[in-house]
Amino acid sequence: MIDIHTHILPGLDDGPRSWAETLEMCRLAKEDGAEGLVATPHIRDGVYPNRRSDIVEKVNELREKIKGHIDINIFCGAEIHITPDIVDRIKRGEVPTINDKGYILLELPDHLVPPRIEDLLFQLKLERIIPIITHVERSHWIQREFQLIYRFVEMGALMQITAMSLTGGLGRTARRMAMKLVKLRLAHVIASDSHSRGLRPPGLSFALKIASSIVGEKEANAMVKDAPAKIINGSGIEIPVPERT
Ligand SMILES: [Fe+2]
Repeated sequence: MIDIHTHILPGLDDGPRSWAETLEMCRLAKEDGAEGLVATPHIRDGVYPNRRSDIVEKVNELREKIKGHIDINIFCGAEIHITPDIVDRIKRGEVPTINDKGYILLELPDHLVPPRIEDLLFQLKLERIIPIITHVERSHWIQREFQLIYRFVEMGALMQITAMSLTGGLGRTARRMAMKLVKLRLAHVIASDSHSRGLRPPGLSFALKIASSIVGEKEANAMVKDAPAKIINGSGIEIPVPERT
């Protein structure tokens, strides 16, 4: 399994406070069966002004620290809060795509979908950058505007849900919505969005079991193994046709 959404680098965002905690998180992920982790610190103007160079530096530091101790691959990425100039920032090398292969984690505001989102998705498509919208099941807007998910998927976006939403650790609403997205084939990747060793630790295996019970093993594996591997390699993902509600 490869976890494409983790906050495992210390000092860049609201993730771990120390390298010791980072290493513990890597160990937990490995024990749970992960072969790779994408480090995706927040990039958010005025709050987490991280740049690609900061993230690459810390990823390299982490690779050095685990060498010979923890057998897990670490890749570079970011969770990018939506701004209208994402494409320019990527082109300037300020914002990384995952493993520099063209996929990005895109975070939308919780309450309101920005009115110009479709313009942005179109711009990304023209540049062959594939957005993966993060933890959609936890967004408030999804309760009122579920149909938007179909529209985003039509426009080439992928949907990521949080492992702990499926397993019930983030409340009943998040669980119900995560299960609905899986059932309707509107969830394409399951990731931990882990921030610490305690509150939301890494780990995908329990969520994989739950997803398997909804759509079967093959499709569930696609969400934690096949799709993440393609995201890392920059190859195309064939997504299932979503069911209509
Ligand atoms: Fe996150």
